[in-house]
Amino acid sequence: MKLLILPDAAAAAARVVDEIRDLVDEKPDARLGLATGGTMEPVYQGLVASDADLSRVTTFNLDEYVGLSPQHPQSYRSFMEARLFGPKRMSRKQTHLPQGDAPDPEAEADRYEAQIADGGLDLQLLGIGANGHIGFNEPTSSLGSRTRVKTLTRRTRDDNARFFDDPDEVPRFAITMGIATILDARHVVLLATGSAKAEAVAAMVEGPLSAVCPASALQLHRRATIVVDEAAASSLALRDYYETVHPGGAEPEL
Ligand code: GLP
Repeated sequence: MKLLILPDAAAAAARVVDEIRDLVDEKPDARLGLATGGTMEPVYQGLVASDADLSRVTTFNLDEYVGLSPQHPQSYRSFMEARLFGPKRMSRKQTHLPQGDAPDPEAEADRYEAQIADGGLDLQLLGIGANGHIGFNEPTSSLGSRTRVKTLTRRTRDDNARFFDDPDEVPRFAITMGIATILDARHVVLLATGSAKAEAVAAMVEGPLSAVCPASALQLHRRATIVVDEAAASSLALRDYYETVHPGGAEPEL
């Protein structure tokens, strides 16, 4: 894992924007895996403000709530349309999410998995749940899992209730890329900011590889970049070492 500790959330998000821009500059038709959540908002703001050309990329989001139509204001499709796809004038043809209101959610998950596998992903962007989830792979998700329907934990539903008018409206199920689907991406970039993520970050990086912390599966990936701010880095036992290797998030001078 490459662990980059940036001074604050804005600097951490800017670093992630740079990773995406560098990829798209090099490969204009890159296949990008995208994420939702509050942590990603400054990333999408940064991309929209930048001159990054996303006209030829293809995107696949990690997950979508089961039961919400793409037009539902709290769907992840709506989140992405408002923050990135709309402002960057990206078409429906190039942007993909599981369809939350598909009549057969399991069949929709299989269809989505096949669509991702047909070309793979050059970069998968990830946030992390306070319980260590990635996508909606909740604790004890199989490390070999593929895109499927998952039941959300009470904690995840509570954490995400802030986006809904009524907490009871938070869906109980989601279609999410699996952990093995995520590990297939050629580069994984995880962004975590704020002290509420500090324990999950420490478990992901320094804890045992375990389905109890789904993000710890990234320890198996040969190219995982973890970008955190100081608050999210605060529980890392080897923090001094990471800062020595990448001072201020910079590449080491060999
Ligand atoms: C949701 C998403 C995850 C995201 C997590 C953290 O549960 N499915 O992909 O990483 O929330 O969200 P936030 O960035 O709002 O803390």
